[in-house]
Amino acid sequence: MKRYADKTIMVTGGGGGIGRAIALRLAGEGGAIAVLDKNGQAADETVSQVAAAGGRAAAVIADITDWDSVQNAVAEAEQALGPLDVLVNNAGWAQRGSLEDTAPEDWDKEIAVNLRGHFLAAKAVLPGMVARGHGVIVNIGSVNGFVALGNPGYSAAKAGLYSLTQTLSGEYGPKGIRTNMISPGTIETDIETWRIRRQKNPEIFDTLARWYPVGRVGQPEDIAAATAYIAADEAAFVNGANLMVDGGLTASLNPMIEEFVLE
Ligand SMILES: NC(=O)c1ccc[n+]([C@@H]2O[C@H](COP(=O)([O-])OP(=O)(O)OC[C@H]3O[C@@H](n4cnc5c(N)ncnc54)[C@H](O)[C@@H]3O)[C@@H](O)[C@H]2O)c1
Repeated sequence: MKRYADKTIMVTGGGGGIGRAIALRLAGEGGAIAVLDKNGQAADETVSQVAAAGGRAAAVIADITDWDSVQNAVAEAEQALGPLDVLVNNAGWAQRGSLEDTAPEDWDKEIAVNLRGHFLAAKAVLPGMVARGHGVIVNIGSVNGFVALGNPGYSAAKAGLYSLTQTLSGEYGPKGIRTNMISPGTIETDIETWRIRRQKNPEIFDTLARWYPVGRVGQPEDIAAATAYIAADEAAFVNGANLMVDGGLTASLNPMIEEFVLE
């Protein structure tokens, strides 16, 4: 059974590592995918990969921090593929590692990309979803929204995204729209923060694996699988939830336990 047959899904940041995996996964389950990204080349590449796998997708170039751009993107996506059933708010970006390194304008930019953009995308798709009486929004958060792991502006935005998820679930649940959040741990992608850290330590993902009770960091497909579940009709009673997809990172301090002297 194809869970997304006859569904249209917009994935923001669909040209990036996790967004592309989500696009490929949901297209593989029958969905038509609007691949929104500010990087047109990256969005086109995702569309090509979806098409090569036998799926249907269209690229939409937009900046999620700009209200006009987001509204145009939703109109363009719906014209190309039909009314949107699902919004996956996945685009994200982080730059400054510490509070000391974060200038006021850095803070504003990280909050804009990781929180304002999600609000704008939701705001743009909601009137149509309300009119149709159904819809699903999935916000991609981060473990950074729950524990301090550096990148303070980004982390504050991700923590705020949980509040936005709760607001949307309460205000729009009665109108047939479910909103949930997925919070990934370390996922092997080329997002700027990992690109920089990998330049300093090419083995960074292997180094970090010891913090993960499952013995590895995550892959984009791990987040795509969680998204495919939480956005599907079978998750009809899941609303306002946060699903940690972090291999148990935030549930356990395994490296600390290893340092205990246990009998
Ligand atoms: N990779 C990880 O370890 C990790 C961990 C936790 C959460 N996340 C979250 O997962 C999501 C995807 O991350 P990724 O690792 O795939 O990153 P990525 O850099 O590979 O992809 C992000 C995509 O978003 C696009 N984008 C950035 N700003 C945009 C804007 N203003 N408008 C439109 N598009 C924009 C980029 O062009 C890029 O294609 C992000 O929200 C990120 O915070 C990632």
